[in-house]
Amino acid sequence: MNRSEFSEGEIARYWDQNADLWADHVRKGWDYYREHFNNPAFFRFIGDLSGKAVLDAGCGEGYSTRLLARSGARMTGLDISQKMIDLARREEQREPLGIRYEVASFSDLSLLDDASFDTVVSFMALMDGPDFGGASREILRVLRPSGELVFSITHPCFMTRGYGWMEDEAAGTTKLTVSDYFGGQPYVERWRFKGPAPKEAEPFAVPVFPRTLSEYVNTLIRAGFVLEGIGEPRPSEDACKEHPWLQRWRDHATLFLYVRAVKPLGG
Ligand SMILES: C[S@@+](CC[C@H](N)C(=O)[O-])C[C@H]1O[C@@H](n2cnc3c(N)ncnc32)[C@H](O)[C@@H]1O
Repeated sequence: MNRSEFSEGEIARYWDQNADLWADHVRKGWDYYREHFNNPAFFRFIGDLSGKAVLDAGCGEGYSTRLLARSGARMTGLDISQKMIDLARREEQREPLGIRYEVASFSDLSLLDDASFDTVVSFMALMDGPDFGGASREILRVLRPSGELVFSITHPCFMTRGYGWMEDEAAGTTKLTVSDYFGGQPYVERWRFKGPAPKEAEPFAVPVFPRTLSEYVNTLIRAGFVLEGIGEPRPSEDACKEHPWLQRWRDHATLFLYVRAVKPLGG
């Protein structure tokens, strides 16, 4: 299947189907990678956004959008899945935080004005859309000059379609194996959160659009961004003591890639 055959309508349908279980598990704290590794590290990478106008691109049911709103950012959350946004809006009604939610693709932000945000954040979503070039150009457009795009994705060099772990108990070694790094065909990945969710819970079905590191970086540069920083987080020693399943991501490879890119003045 090539990228153009995987329509955004289909992607929205996959995420609509994931939405109820996703929201239930995320809100119960059952996404252990998020709770014990990714969110603490990524929020440090993002820094203080209080008082800023911030777009959360691919916000899902709004978990991180709400965290940013509670810390003082003026938030807009946007997602392609109507069901995710319904769940986010229901939560906004229950606990109003002043968040505006919209259903749209981050590759077509025509409902948002030029230069209307100080910062665009995206938590683990930009690898799930087919058109990273369109997303980069649209995000640049809605940012003010010197505004920043800060996003997290699964690390494209390690979390490839063919990745896996090899344990050699006799030698006492653990190895990460990587293959298909250049195999850019989209596919549907099925997985559950690491956490206490019942094993019989339906796995999420997630369309994935693999890209190489150079594709991500060069696309941002071509759109007009200036790269400011890259993050490759490692779980802390304390986190690994408390959650030994994290240790391999401290010792062998990094699971996530964080990127900070700025819209230049006059850009
Ligand atoms: C892995 S989830 C992450 C959701 C949320 N950021 C979080 O951390 O819980 C990816 C999200 O990206 C959304 N998504 C996928 N493609 C999109 C697109 N083209 N435009 C906007 N949202 C998209 C999905 O609907 C889904 O909610």
